[in-house]
Amino acid sequence: MKDFKSSVVYQIYPKSFNDSNGDGIGDLNGVIEKLDYLKELGIDYIWLTPFYISPQKDNGYDVADYYNIEPMFGTMEDFQNLIKEAEKRSIGIMLDMVFNHTSTKHQWFKNALKGEEKYKNFYIFKEGKKEKAPTNWKSKFGGSAWEYVEEFNEYYLHLFDVTQADLNWDNEEVRNEIYKVVKFWLEKGVKGFRFDVINLISKPEVFQDDENGDGRKFYTDGPNIHEYLKELNLKTFGKFKEVITVGEMSSTTVDNCIHYSNPQENELSMVFNFHHLKVDYENGNKWTLMDFDFKMLKNLFEKWQEGMEKGDGWSAVFWCNHDQPRIVSRIGNDKKYHKESSKMLATTIHMMRGTPYIYQGEEFGMPNPYFDKIEDYRDIESINYYNILKNKGVHEDKILEILKSKSRDNSRTPMQWNQEKNAGFTSGTPWISIGKSYKKINAEEALKDNDSVFYHYKKLIALRKKYPIISQGDFKMILEESKEVFGYTREYKNQMLLVLNNFYEKETEIEIPALLLENHKKVVTLITNYLSSDDLKEKIVLRPYESIVYYIEK
Ligand code: GLC
Ligand code: CA
Repeated sequence: MKDFKSSVVYQIYPKSFNDSNGDGIGDLNGVIEKLDYLKELGIDYIWLTPFYISPQKDNGYDVADYYNIEPMFGTMEDFQNLIKEAEKRSIGIMLDMVFNHTSTKHQWFKNALKGEEKYKNFYIFKEGKKEKAPTNWKSKFGGSAWEYVEEFNEYYLHLFDVTQADLNWDNEEVRNEIYKVVKFWLEKGVKGFRFDVINLISKPEVFQDDENGDGRKFYTDGPNIHEYLKELNLKTFGKFKEVITVGEMSSTTVDNCIHYSNPQENELSMVFNFHHLKVDYENGNKWTLMDFDFKMLKNLFEKWQEGMEKGDGWSAVFWCNHDQPRIVSRIGNDKKYHKESSKMLATTIHMMRGTPYIYQGEEFGMPNPYFDKIEDYRDIESINYYNILKNKGVHEDKILEILKSKSRDNSRTPMQWNQEKNAGFTSGTPWISIGKSYKKINAEEALKDNDSVFYHYKKLIALRKKYPIISQGDFKMILEESKEVFGYTREYKNQMLLVLNNFYEKETEIEIPALLLENHKKVVTLITNYLSSDDLKEKIVLRPYESIVYYIEK
């Protein structure tokens, strides 16, 4: 049995991973073809984003049938085959469960629209206020969170796209339907679940306007959230001790996340939070251009690492996923220091307290694609915001600059396998264009080069298996004042890790706190991103994006 604390999860966005039949869309058989590659990397679990029946308005996060597979991704037989082939390589499959909403094409919603009371109660229909929506809440994809339905003279709630109607978790029948879905997939041999925006499922009793926000304060970590997660656990995966779970928590707090993931609470194994990925949002607004705020990043890491540890909670630690731009383009340097910065960012995450997640392509430093026309974009959120910014009078060039750095499509371009046509992703026409860097930055090149980003990730994963301190150690930030370096220690029994990461191109000298230099029995440099690095001493010079991990025994 795997222990989730010493495991590493690899995220696959099937649509963009590997196309086995030339229709331009990645599929389940395409994943099977690449299992040996993932085995080589050393990961323990694959998290697959949704491949269920869906009109694909939000690339599968708009589910129309939870029990069947969208034909372009393959068949149930392909899926069972994937489970079996993955198992042979000791890789567990984790599924993405989208239960905050369904597609408006789901049979439940169709029945609701026909006026069937039972199904209307599956969703959140409310009367408006004098020709106006029930509340002033905003959809996370822009515009109102309510859609008017003329036949009923009522509105339904959609926190995301208008084709994603929010489910009514206060209705026990809904909850039971959801538990059935989870059990169905458990019986197929699934080893874990990622629950999409799960902390938004519990809506308030009274719906009211938000005077100073978009409404999120009323439904984020909502009133019955912990009760519902406990019930979900008890009625489904709780009995399967080896199954791991991770909740995607939007705009959450440390206290709630402790509650979600502390083992005594019987809710989830771990949680994602996104605060550290908002450090380049000007005044909290994503659709702006801003350099990342390093001080803020450090403070957030410290707050979450130390806070979660104190409350015995557990985090998923990560930089990248299908909703985030590529980290090497965002915080690293995808030109001159592509390798160094990719590796430094990897070390930063993998040595922290939590379970690391790697998003497809991150393991060889895939950068943003740098699209320069709106026609290249596919993502609903990006296209909505393109229109919103246009209507606000923002210049086209400026909007394209913003999308180039902020769009979710930055992570959704096809996996760059090799330098051949379409980066080896498909023999047909890819559903979204290939990134510009694929001739140089691709999996095949990375596998040929001993010093590649890929082998750095591989080593980080191997170290986690060898040194319990990496999963078990206590976290403490050091060098608080440094404007360039994020440093921290981990402590476990008589051992210590000292982790130093230079986030900038500038060379910088740091002074190691005297306490950390005393009484060593043994000091080893575990991993660095240069051919060799300074030994541990009072003053250390860190070169551009240099990252060093010392292992110390006292
Ligand atoms: C999550 C998913 C994202 C999706 C949204 C709505 O944030 O990661 O891709 O658009 O939920 O389901
Ligand atoms: Ca295909």
